[in-house]
Amino acid sequence: MPPLSTMKAIVTEKTGGPEVLEVRAHHPVPTAGEGQLLVKNQTIGINYIDTYFRTGLYPSTKPEILGREAVGTVVGVGPGANPYNFKVGDRVAWLSTGSYAEYTAVPQAKTVKVPDELSDEDVLGSFLSGLTVLSLAKETYPVQKGDWVLLHAAAGGAGFLMTQILKSIGATVIGTAGGPEKVELVKSLGADYVIDYRSEEGKDWVKQVKEITHGRGVDVVYDSVGKDTWEGSLEAVKRKGTIVWFGNASGPVPPLPLPKLSPKCVKVARPTLFGYIETREEFEFYVNELFNLLKSGDLKVKIHKVYPLDQVAQAHSDLEGRKTTGKLLLKA
Ligand SMILES: NC(=O)c1ccc[n+]([C@@H]2O[C@H](COP(=O)([O-])OP(=O)(O)OC[C@H]3O[C@@H](n4cnc5c(N)ncnc54)[C@H](OP(=O)(O)O)[C@@H]3O)[C@@H](O)[C@H]2O)c1
Repeated sequence: MPPLSTMKAIVTEKTGGPEVLEVRAHHPVPTAGEGQLLVKNQTIGINYIDTYFRTGLYPSTKPEILGREAVGTVVGVGPGANPYNFKVGDRVAWLSTGSYAEYTAVPQAKTVKVPDELSDEDVLGSFLSGLTVLSLAKETYPVQKGDWVLLHAAAGGAGFLMTQILKSIGATVIGTAGGPEKVELVKSLGADYVIDYRSEEGKDWVKQVKEITHGRGVDVVYDSVGKDTWEGSLEAVKRKGTIVWFGNASGPVPPLPLPKLSPKCVKVARPTLFGYIETREEFEFYVNELFNLLKSGDLKVKIHKVYPLDQVAQAHSDLEGRKTTGKLLLKA
């Protein structure tokens, strides 16, 4: 049983800007139902998808507690089977909904114990984002050594991790990022070319990608920017290449006329992490892969800032204002 019946939580009653994220000091603590755990959250991850649910780009029922991941301590185990042997006191990481709160009732099936040697920051700097980029590089388009890859927003939460994964596979990486500091950060990860697509010169990033690839284009584009980049991504990909659209940071890709894909026989994917980790086996596969990379030091995380829970609106403004690199976290 949790020590309290009420908790601090961020409740969103309606869609809108960061101001709709309301701090509530006395929200009811949920109860763990069958197949669930009650977790006292310590550290909470902020993901761009949280902004889509806040603005209504992705529909959801309001009022709602946003947030899809946290690390915390199990304080209650729901009734029924407990196939993964969770117990009160376990330090766990979970993926579900409702993490902008001191307590969340979460599905056991999407919860894992965290190895002692990994800090909250290691795990949440890479949990939802890291599992995503691993699935993008392994399944959506299995990247091969020698592939030419264009990665947009390479300095962001997902991009920072993806750049490292792509380089570890042996791909040649062309990253895009907004501003000289972000460019330097991406270069420091080993990216082969980095284009500042917000600079005067970088505005014609498609031309630069063509020049870098001697007119051929890239094997695959990973595009999470969407509205502002989708047409350029289609131009920058090679004949028989692949475009992976996996996010909408600038807005969604408009409905795509399929004949646009014909001239170059382009393949298109629109993946989501949860489609790759639906079963426990799939979830554990990617979590093990991620934790091993973190433990060996082969994957580094970058935390932009840890905000107190009640400063979540500021965190959303910073993320949407393109002011951040790496991952934003909240402390419950
Ligand atoms: N499909 C999935 O399962 C999945 C899972 C995780 C993440 N994602 C997607 O991956 C992307 C990255 O997520 P994240 O949480 O790691 O965020 P993030 O990359 O840290 O932040 C988004 C970045 O997008 C770039 N951007 C370009 N145009 C923008 C605009 N008009 N407004 C705001 N940002 C813009 C900015 O970098 P620059 O300043 O360098 O342009 C910004 O820092 C998001 O699109 C997210 O939806 C998808």
